[in-house]
Amino acid sequence: MSSPVADVPASLPPTPAAGPRPGSSVPVGASRPAAGWRDRPGDPSPFLAACRGERGSWTPVWFMRQAGRSLPEYRRVREGVPMLESCARPDLVVEITMQPVRRYGVDAAIFYSDIVVPLKAIGLDLDIVQGVGPVIAEPIRTAADVERLRPLEPDDVAYVTEAVRGLVGQLGATPLIGFAGAPFTLASYLVEGGPSKDHARTKALMLGEPAVWAALMERLAGISAAFLQVQVDAGARAVQLFDSWAGVLPRRMYAEHVAPWSAQVLARLEGQVPRIHFGVGTGELLADMAGAGADVMGVDFRVPLDEAARRVGAERPLQGNLDSAVVLAPWPVVEREARRVLGEARELPGHIFNLGHGVLPASDPDVLARLVELVHTETAR
Ligand code: CP3
Repeated sequence: MSSPVADVPASLPPTPAAGPRPGSSVPVGASRPAAGWRDRPGDPSPFLAACRGERGSWTPVWFMRQAGRSLPEYRRVREGVPMLESCARPDLVVEITMQPVRRYGVDAAIFYSDIVVPLKAIGLDLDIVQGVGPVIAEPIRTAADVERLRPLEPDDVAYVTEAVRGLVGQLGATPLIGFAGAPFTLASYLVEGGPSKDHARTKALMLGEPAVWAALMERLAGISAAFLQVQVDAGARAVQLFDSWAGVLPRRMYAEHVAPWSAQVLARLEGQVPRIHFGVGTGELLADMAGAGADVMGVDFRVPLDEAARRVGAERPLQGNLDSAVVLAPWPVVEREARRVLGEARELPGHIFNLGHGVLPASDPDVLARLVELVHTETAR
């Protein structure tokens, strides 16, 4: 924890950990010990230190959607390969996941996949349409439709296991974050049939057919947890549960019809790896979301981190929350806003610097690289 940031230039690829990585002696695919990530002071990863609620050598940084269309090298390898096909090819998944790690020197990698991959893997007819998002051929709206959702088995996503193993080998000391969509966000795509602004059908099902809704959420919680477990078993060292669209819900609906199933997913991973939970526009829900049990709360760009800490409780590490749009402004603005975020995070037990949502496709990769360097040098201790 003591090496100054200057010894680890942000522009270099991550160096392998000195000595055996915690957990590396566990045969790949075997269950990991269900304890211990909290008890590893001296772990070389500032990201994992922040998850434990410690101030490590510097404030760690990663960006949601750090892999993707903002990178020319991503567009090159994706040429002619449909999105979901790219997620099923371990060679491409490893390459695309590594691209932002090499270029930005971020403190964690996020697994290149998509929240709808496990739904495709259990046989649902869906696609990701560029510029639109996930589109479901036959939406799920009745009790009979819910029956089409079978549990996810590790063999359904063998390519995920293979890709995670490959990544763990390349990443060395840099942790890989696995992820899944939370039951509500998955349900919203399945019920609406695609992206939606008002999520009206989803809310109508939730309120009008609570038993069908509960059955749908129960199955999705199982799928979401199983998808995370596959990634953790293969070597992911943290997970993020994305409830991207939960912010469309009033607090009372969230608490009654969503939180119990998010809690179920998070409980399945308890003690194995740190769990991060994030959604967009969730300022009003932060306390309830925190109640679902994640170790770290992700905060979107609308709520200053010091205010978020008042809502979730001062003991919880937070992740966030520079507005993604700021990256498109001139550098002095980026610098000022990044410093503001760091200032608002000063009293937190642990802070993971991130954007308030994903990297926008129009972002300049050089600005993101400079931002990582700024956060590292500003916070080196
Ligand atoms: O770098 C990373 O963050 C890792 C990869 C990642 C992708 N999707 C790759 C992707 C992650 C973590 C996701 C999660 C995801 N997918 C979420 C939750 C995160 C969030 O942003 O709130 C959601 C809601 C989805 C659904 C989804 N998939 C959308 C809305 C889109 C964008 C559609 C578009 O074209 O505008 C996708 C497609 C997608 N997922 C892309 C990438 C890199 C872009 C598709 C492409 O490059 O062709």
